[in-house]
Amino acid sequence: YVLGVDLGTSAVKVLLVNQQGDVTHETSKSYPLIQERSGYSEQDPEEWVEKTTVAITDILHQFKGNVEDIEGISFSGQMHGLVLLNNSNQVLRQAILWNDTRTTKQCQDIYNLVGKEKLLHITKNPALEGFTLPKLLWVKENEPEVFAEASVFLLPKDYLRYRITGMLHSEYSDAAGTLLLNVAEKSWSEEICRLVDIPVDLCPPLVESHECVGTIDSVFANATGLSASTKVFAGGADNACGAIGAGILSEGKTLCSIGTSGVILSYESNRDLDFEGKVHYFNHGKEDAFYTMGVTLAAGYSLSWFKDVFAANESFESFVEGVETVPVGSNGLLFTPYVVGERTPHADSVIRASFVGGDTSHTRPDFVRSVIEGITFSLNESIEIFRENGKTIDTIISIGGGAKNNTWLQIQADIFQAEIVKLKSEQGPGMGAAILAAYGSGWFNTLQECADVFTEPAQKFTPIEENVAAYKKLFDLYKMIYQQTKEINE
Ligand code: XUL
Repeated sequence: YVLGVDLGTSAVKVLLVNQQGDVTHETSKSYPLIQERSGYSEQDPEEWVEKTTVAITDILHQFKGNVEDIEGISFSGQMHGLVLLNNSNQVLRQAILWNDTRTTKQCQDIYNLVGKEKLLHITKNPALEGFTLPKLLWVKENEPEVFAEASVFLLPKDYLRYRITGMLHSEYSDAAGTLLLNVAEKSWSEEICRLVDIPVDLCPPLVESHECVGTIDSVFANATGLSASTKVFAGGADNACGAIGAGILSEGKTLCSIGTSGVILSYESNRDLDFEGKVHYFNHGKEDAFYTMGVTLAAGYSLSWFKDVFAANESFESFVEGVETVPVGSNGLLFTPYVVGERTPHADSVIRASFVGGDTSHTRPDFVRSVIEGITFSLNESIEIFRENGKTIDTIISIGGGAKNNTWLQIQADIFQAEIVKLKSEQGPGMGAAILAAYGSGWFNTLQECADVFTEPAQKFTPIEENVAAYKKLFDLYKMIYQQTKEINE
């Protein structure tokens, strides 16, 4: 057996997986976002450790086998979040998360200090509020006493792993989202550190995602019941792990993943392509591979926000009931999902969402469908960038909350103009983490071999011509809303 742990934004999800790739046990424990001010988004790292401990303990209670048979554990994690430790490895402040947008000034500072061209050349990515370096600079500027005590920074799942092994590491797929990594050369960029005046020794040692970094520390073994001989593998960023779990491991494969955020991700073997920073360009969890990715900041989050405001006590299943009977275009209602700003293609933390075209005849299902369509239009803007840069996207594997509802999968096919594949047992990034542990444990010769056994396509959704035509028109209107509403929020 192996354990795959996905440290997400809303919950930690743990899977116990056997050698055939069957999930024999799974559980998830949620934790809140701490949003003290508009644009702020934080979490308490201690809560990640506590909830993971409870989740693993629960799984081991249900597990009837021998804990010694759990050979490995690995991790997937929400990207970019900043955890700062002092020289006794104690947490100095709450973690500042990927969806926190307080750092617009620091992004500008990075461009001034490094230069946009150099930043894109080294890190392959633009300065965006969500990334880690702007957060480090924010703490340096606004909480100098905290920064002065910092001895190392970690990404969320790297902190969790530290608490499980006692060892400090990062790995390339998550390090790529810091703006401090030379992505093509796979090393921390001393040049960027020097230019922004961040000591390079704040950066933790780097390993590969499938590398074994230790075994379970006795405190964590006692707290959970895990064996101290279980091997711990580094793991990867949630998007890299989502890609591994869906078999996005060779050229031409594309993923749509809808969780709190939504991403369109495309496998890349070339380390030197230039997308001018229009999409993210990160190291994969597979050695020496990459992926490019566009991000919708509030994908599932737009829908859960809408549900929480208007139907807090309902389940998602009942909330989305009826959207299948609403026609394409939600009876004239259009939504832009900018409830916390937008990443791709606008890189705009200030823009806010719109409903356009409201009518007294509109019912709740019209609104719900328009939210779903708006999220999908936003993701289609990423697909458009990929296609404009010469990528062929004709099949997309869809995972996450957006893949749970067949109407939404058909909407994806019609808006993306591509065949959408739903997987049989869809476990998202946690499955990618389990695959890294299985491969790291030597069960398979390659990640691909493992993914072939652990994941299986179940159902295909093909674009319906008349829907495609209708959505094409609506997509052009959708794109106009950004420009037309920009001023309202400036
Ligand atoms: C990617 C990003 C999000 C988080 C969600 O750049 O910010 O997808 O990884 O956990």
